[in-house]
Amino acid sequence: MTKRFDELWQLSTVDLNSKVQERTELMTAYGLMQTLQARSYLEIGASMGGSMVVLGANCTKVVAVDLFEQHSAPTLHLAMKMISAPHVVGVAGDSRDPKTIAKVVAHGPYDVVLIDGGHDYRTVQSDWKTYGPLATKAVFFHDIAQPYVKILWNEIGGGLEIKSPRTTMGFGVRFV
Ligand SMILES: C[S@@+](CC[C@H](N)C(=O)[O-])C[C@H]1O[C@@H](n2cnc3c(N)ncnc32)[C@H](O)[C@@H]1O
Repeated sequence: MTKRFDELWQLSTVDLNSKVQERTELMTAYGLMQTLQARSYLEIGASMGGSMVVLGANCTKVVAVDLFEQHSAPTLHLAMKMISAPHVVGVAGDSRDPKTIAKVVAHGPYDVVLIDGGHDYRTVQSDWKTYGPLATKAVFFHDIAQPYVKILWNEIGGGLEIKSPRTTMGFGVRFV
């Protein structure tokens, strides 16, 4: 059964105490996951799992990539347990490291890929080039209003923008 957004928002912001998403933006991105009937999901930069528990909630395969730093790793492990998908994998490492890439490719392809890792230009560009081709339905970017993400977003021609006037974040969506 499809999990409702309100319940997932509670998991994200209260149970995981993740505060890095804007509610209406995430709700719209969640709605798009349902419209696309996305069943497999890759998130680059899963952090404490705040967006992953929502966007990956109704998927059967979820792969989470992050540096798994000490402050965030326990919460990310908890978030991975909250997802009922039969196939939930955490990949600890730099998204540009060939070992990380090999692991992510081995679990692919993915209906939807979210790029929300390093927000410097080189990393966003690398993540787009490396992981974008693994998406079969759409690539989501988070923080398209952030300076370096915005540069890359404009360079690749933009796409659907999900932006609340109340934040400086925003999702960008490139359909495959
Ligand atoms: C803005 S946070 C992601 C927030 C998360 N998507 C959410 O909404 O809850 C960015 C994350 O990317 C990770 N990160 C930064 N550079 C990375 C890299 N080169 N490879 C993998 N993860 C990276 C950081 O450790 C951090 O957890």
